[in-house]
Amino acid sequence: MSKRTSFLIFFLLFSSVVFYSCKKNKAGSGSKTSSYNDTGSHNVGSACMNCHNPGGENRYWWTVAGTVFKPDSASLNPNSTIYLFSGSGGTGNLILTLPVDGKSNFYTSNSFRFGTGLYPEVKSSSGEVRSMQSSTTNGNCNSCHNSTNRIIVN
Ligand code: HEC
Ligand code: HEC
Repeated sequence: MSKRTSFLIFFLLFSSVVFYSCKKNKAGSGSKTSSYNDTGSHNVGSACMNCHNPGGENRYWWTVAGTVFKPDSASLNPNSTIYLFSGSGGTGNLILTLPVDGKSNFYTSNSFRFGTGLYPEVKSSSGEVRSMQSSTTNGNCNSCHNSTNRIIVN
């Protein structure tokens, strides 16, 4: 075998390995939605889509994501539920229902349109409901709901 041929064989093998591993972790290729009691998420309270953003390198690109706290803004609030309505205070059409997981995070990679804006609502596992008075077109909920303005419910 000539030097040239063995280099070619090596090159082909090498590039197929690179191609395979890129394909496996392709950015945005992961599809996932939060579910009650699941503990596979992380980084509670952070602005999830600063990493999980369309166009970013992460495997999962969320369209809606965030974290729910208790009224003390520090205790977590697992297994609550997030709703997005077309009207304020739970009126109009219910556009999205998103279970909050066992770590108190909610997220989905499902394609989703906010249109001119939707009104978020949260219901705790014990049934209390709180609504956001204004509408939003931004699914990166924790970008506003940071440590000084958590999504809270009792
Ligand atoms: C600092 C960057 C960063 C932030 C902020 C971040 N994540 Fe992640 N997350 C990652 C990385 C990296 C992975 C690994 C995914 C991959 O394979 O590309 C990941 C994976 C995940 C997974 C998948 C676990 C699995 O493999 O099943 C979930 C669910 C998740 N993140 C949820 C969230 C939620 C919800 C938030 C916000 C509360 C969040 N992440 C904030 C970087 C981040
Ligand atoms: C532009 C900043 C901003 C974004 C983005 C945002 N919120 Fe809010 N949210 C607020 C503010 C300010 C309040 C308190 C005043 C009000 O209700 O309008 C609030 C209140 C709420 C409340 C009422 C309970 C509470 O904590 O006071 C819920 C529930 C809520 N937001 C959920 C969400 C969800 C879910 C998302 C993401 C889909 C989201 N918010 C995105 C700013 C934001």
